[in-house]
Amino acid sequence: MLAWYRRRYLDLLGSIYIYNEHRGYTALDRVLEAVRARCEPNDPLIGLIEKHRADERKHYVMFKRWFELQGKRPMHLDRTFGHIDRFIEIMFGTSIDSLDTEAVIARDELFERLCRVISLTEQRGFKQVEILLANSHVRSDPALVRIFEVIHRDEPSHWAPYDGWLEANAKREPKWWERMVDGFIHSELLFLKLPILFLNPFVKRRTDWADDGEEAPDRYAERLRPVGARAATA
Ligand SMILES: [Fe+2]
Ligand SMILES: [Fe+2]
Repeated sequence: MLAWYRRRYLDLLGSIYIYNEHRGYTALDRVLEAVRARCEPNDPLIGLIEKHRADERKHYVMFKRWFELQGKRPMHLDRTFGHIDRFIEIMFGTSIDSLDTEAVIARDELFERLCRVISLTEQRGFKQVEILLANSHVRSDPALVRIFEVIHRDEPSHWAPYDGWLEANAKREPKWWERMVDGFIHSELLFLKLPILFLNPFVKRRTDWADDGEEAPDRYAERLRPVGARAATA
């Protein structure tokens, strides 16, 4: 019984993570679009977000490998399981896919809001990974522990560029209610959606991979190499 429980828990945890990693790097493509339109071409923010995008893609691939080695696909989850999806929906009143990139480019306060949403999401992700690394079910799977250790190491560099932009442009810190929305989304996922998913026998596995057919999904992989190593082969 415990073995079954553990398998199902890790299966669903991996499925929620792989969904969020994929959502993360594809949503960052839209953020990059906005940043490129707003900033000078040599603005360091662009390179930092490309690195962030490359990291989230790398996390996605790690979970994909984890599932592949078990000979199975993740569960078919939709955007109700996406932290960033819910956050954007609440803060912008629209889904990520229909977020008006033009408006975010043109209006400073919307870009500012987006930076805060991403920063809070990443900080939340960091704290969550710390909790998971101490979880006995997670610790029973050495491959999963290694994946979470990599995520834990990467995460602080993910909120830094957005916090940096907010600070450099003298924008305010997140307000208590923004942190509350973030906390609400997190508890909703953990205490409501995950248990419902756990007990739902009808949830199906994917028959494909979320990145099937994506054009050059690893286009920023170069950003993962240390700057010195890049210069040496340039
Ligand atoms: Fe990630
Ligand atoms: Fe991240």
